[in-house]
Amino acid sequence: PTKLRVSEALLGAEVGEDVRVQGWVRSYRPQKNNLFLHVNDGSSLKSLQVVAPAGISDPLLTFGCAVEVKGILKKSPHSKQPVELEAKQIQVIGECNPVDFPFKIKERHSLEYIRQFPHLRCRTNAFSSLLRIRSEATAAIHSYFKSNGFLQIHTPTITSNDCEGAGELFQVEPPGTTFAEEGSFFSVPVYLTVSGQLHLEVMSGAFSRVYTFGPTFRAENSQSRRHLAEFFMVEAEISFTESIEDLTKVMEDLFRSVTESVLDHCEEDVDLFHKHVAPGHRDTVDDALKKTRFPVITYTEAIDVLKRSSEHFTFPTDWGCDLMTEHEKYLVKHCGNIPVFVTDYPYDLKPFYARDNQDHPKRTAAAVDLLVPGVGELCGGSLREERLSLLRSRLQECGLEENYSWYLDLRRFGSVPHGGFGLGFERYLQCILGVDNIKDVIPFPRFSHSCLL
Ligand code: 4AD
Ligand code: MG
Repeated sequence: PTKLRVSEALLGAEVGEDVRVQGWVRSYRPQKNNLFLHVNDGSSLKSLQVVAPAGISDPLLTFGCAVEVKGILKKSPHSKQPVELEAKQIQVIGECNPVDFPFKIKERHSLEYIRQFPHLRCRTNAFSSLLRIRSEATAAIHSYFKSNGFLQIHTPTITSNDCEGAGELFQVEPPGTTFAEEGSFFSVPVYLTVSGQLHLEVMSGAFSRVYTFGPTFRAENSQSRRHLAEFFMVEAEISFTESIEDLTKVMEDLFRSVTESVLDHCEEDVDLFHKHVAPGHRDTVDDALKKTRFPVITYTEAIDVLKRSSEHFTFPTDWGCDLMTEHEKYLVKHCGNIPVFVTDYPYDLKPFYARDNQDHPKRTAAAVDLLVPGVGELCGGSLREERLSLLRSRLQECGLEENYSWYLDLRRFGSVPHGGFGLGFERYLQCILGVDNIKDVIPFPRFSHSCLL
């Protein structure tokens, strides 16, 4: 018999043929004369219905066990599924004790419940849908950059710099050595990367469009629903960029292109979220896609809006304060519950690399965040300070000049106006699926006091 994956069998091209399918039992319904099973192998949300005469059932067959089914693929009499497998033989490959197995037949478990079982939750419909969507979105991101002429750079995981200067670093040292510089493995303190930006900036001195997409690490002590200690970030850097608008255009295009691709290729999986996890969320996604350009407001305008609505917030705000999640979410609502760009943040809120707008009396940087429904900040970006003298005095101010002589070199040898941004991949998934907790959109979440597996 031909070996088929469930998704292949469901296409129905092999109707009438002897086939063999392997997978896990997602439902199990013995009746008087027949046994009905649904077998799933992760290749699609839909499972393959198997019909077996009661006599051929394996006594070890239970919900959750692994099976191989041999039989004839038939056109199904039911409209819900195109084909079913009429079993001639069912063999249990791996048993599953239904009493101990944490998921129960016919029950819809919450994301919160299944989160307790990071080693098993991929066996549920919801989490397997999430993982297919995540994989599709990853491919769509690479495809967007490839078709727009970006070069992919593998930026390092171990680095000696703190790009964001926020001190949220994980220091790295093999056991048995010391964190003191002398005697340490690299002879300098090194960390897990918080951002690949500086390495992309190096490459943007030779390639006018580069990007990277990989894990980044932050020792965030927060237990929030949008922070992880390890998350994936998409980062792009573009040379010969003169305005924030050049950046917002790319962020918007990336968002649209990846979202359309996910909606196209993972329709059923996305529907599961929009029907059962976040009912009504599909409208929010459609509204965002309908907009040809997302609105843009300055930080100063945003603060005016927030101060006029101070009764809505736990924390008051004023010019010079960083926006908090509640402020960001309010701004999104205020702009019609669609993604919105906030530009020109106070210079002192931004890291050393942000370009000085040289404005008075309020000094701002050419930085931009993209805020989205349900999440708040999705992307952070800026034009980079390409002017040698300004950058040098900024680094001096921050006491960083010594560590960043190589960074100053980039401004000494063929410096060009450039800029870029980073998009938090998990927050992106939360945004399009309406998932409240970031721990539910990453295969193996890492956060303070938790590193299971
Ligand atoms: O705003 P951030 O800190 O920007 C940077 O790191 C820039 N160096 C990027 C660049 O310009 N190349 O981080 C970018 C995005 C945030 O907007 C947020 O979506 C996500 O990364 N992010 C996190 N996601 C999950 N958990 C965390 N702890 C995150 N911290 C940032
Ligand atoms: Mg940010």
